[in-house]
Amino acid sequence: MPPAPRPTVSPLPEPDAVRCRALADDLRAAGFTSENLRAVWGPTADTAIARGLRGPAVAALGDRTDPLAVLGRLFVLGVTEPAGRVAASVPHTGIEGLVALGLVDVIEGPDAGVRPLAIIRPQSFVDEHGEGEWWIASDLDEAALGGPLAEGHVLGVGGASQTLARLQLPGGGVERGLDLGTGCGIQALRLGRGVGRVVATDISERALRFTRLNALLNGVDGIETRLGSLFDPLEPGEQFERIVSNPPFVITPRVEGVPAYEYRDGGLVGDALVAEVVTGLGVHLAPGGLAQLLGNWEYREGEDGLDRVRGWVADAPVALDAWVIERERLDPLAYAELWIRDGGTAPGTAEYARLIEAWLDDFARRGVTGVGFGYILLHRPPSWRVTLERYERVRGAAEASGADLAASLAAHARLVSLGEGQAGDAALAASVLRVAPDVTEARHHRPGEEAPTVIELHQGGGFGRVVSVDPALAALVGASDGDLAVGPLIEAIAELLEVDAGELRADLLPRVRELLVTGFLRFAD
Ligand SMILES: C[S@@+](CC[C@H](N)C(=O)[O-])C[C@H]1O[C@@H](n2cnc3c(N)ncnc32)[C@H](O)[C@@H]1O
Repeated sequence: MPPAPRPTVSPLPEPDAVRCRALADDLRAAGFTSENLRAVWGPTADTAIARGLRGPAVAALGDRTDPLAVLGRLFVLGVTEPAGRVAASVPHTGIEGLVALGLVDVIEGPDAGVRPLAIIRPQSFVDEHGEGEWWIASDLDEAALGGPLAEGHVLGVGGASQTLARLQLPGGGVERGLDLGTGCGIQALRLGRGVGRVVATDISERALRFTRLNALLNGVDGIETRLGSLFDPLEPGEQFERIVSNPPFVITPRVEGVPAYEYRDGGLVGDALVAEVVTGLGVHLAPGGLAQLLGNWEYREGEDGLDRVRGWVADAPVALDAWVIERERLDPLAYAELWIRDGGTAPGTAEYARLIEAWLDDFARRGVTGVGFGYILLHRPPSWRVTLERYERVRGAAEASGADLAASLAAHARLVSLGEGQAGDAALAASVLRVAPDVTEARHHRPGEEAPTVIELHQGGGFGRVVSVDPALAALVGASDGDLAVGPLIEAIAELLEVDAGELRADLLPRVRELLVTGFLRFAD
């Protein structure tokens, strides 16, 4: 069966500063915020929109003609609106202003009206500076298009974008940042909250136009856009203190008839694009600089996915500290289904079956048994000395923030500063610790037995980690209230449990280090 024809994209947006300011005034006057829109159409319709269903929100708006309802229909739901209503809702911009920005066109005839060419979604967030909200323009989504996306589609803020934006480390005082593969510009905007100057790159001119338009719409200065693939738009030797990237990491079969969406697929085989980003970014990190990215990595017969990432880091021409967190692993079929549905092809159709076959063939060719998804944090140490090599699987339900990561990195740095070997142990034993406020303990007993068979520590925040501990470590964590140092606490616990204090110390200190880095324990001072 021949592949289905693919839709084409709308004309390019035109990021004009004066018109963007006018539109921002109109959106503000209409109260165009996520909270107000949610109040207007209710929580169920709001959730339905997130799942690509606009019907409940359209129904909830009924025939309301106030600016919030008109702009909500036009720009969030992608519905054509009568020209008179739109003109009344954007008095500063006017319909001709929206047309000039490339956000709408005017259609004549029986279906006459103002037709959206892009969506604009209010996007609320919380970071180290407090709460905020952006308006993010991007291409019409599947719900608005009523069908599959074009290959040059510029994505709005999806779940992965929000994850990386939330994970971004506080940027206070940092001069230069890079957002590689900026799309609608969400990471660049987030980076710009703490970083002086941001370079945002993309292979798509369309994406860069949206990024500039969004920067103007939100009154954010200091974002420079550059067109090109991967590191090509950078000067040789150009360096940044921060790099973020939600790269086009989706593994896609390289065969005719399988759409290659720019927004999610970088055109290489398997996980090679993520490998190139990981291996190539080190030379663009200033010494002491940090990079954060999302990625997929393949598990192949006889090769662990996290070991593949380890290999990419090792291949970098500069030394890099690495902290890699795998959040999820899918088998090849589940992975193929996820991304075929994401492209707007419905299960049960012949096209869906054809694409599944293409994906499974591609995986089989490389012996792929699964695909991991997660977060990669890289740090270029000021010297060649690498101190952080964490490759782990964390399946907790909670989502960490940049502040959580920063706390873990600070704990790691402090532990490194305490030194290694006996000196490091002595310094840690002299430290006073405190259990983090979000930690709770769960004890499981066999019926009728007094001693627990399992003791678990649960983290309420961060990554929602759960660790099993023995009675000695549970006692140490429980007694860590910022008063006595670790060493004396271990001695008291050894006496209580009638075990050798030296042996208990040797057993507990490595696990105390781990609990500090993972955020269960904190240094009290
Ligand atoms: C998953 S989207 C991320 C967009 C945005 N940064 C976010 O977090 O939502 C990946 C972006 O990478 C861009 N891209 C694709 N191939 C690229 C390449 N070879 N070099 C640079 N960017 C590329 C796409 O156009 C797209 O905008």
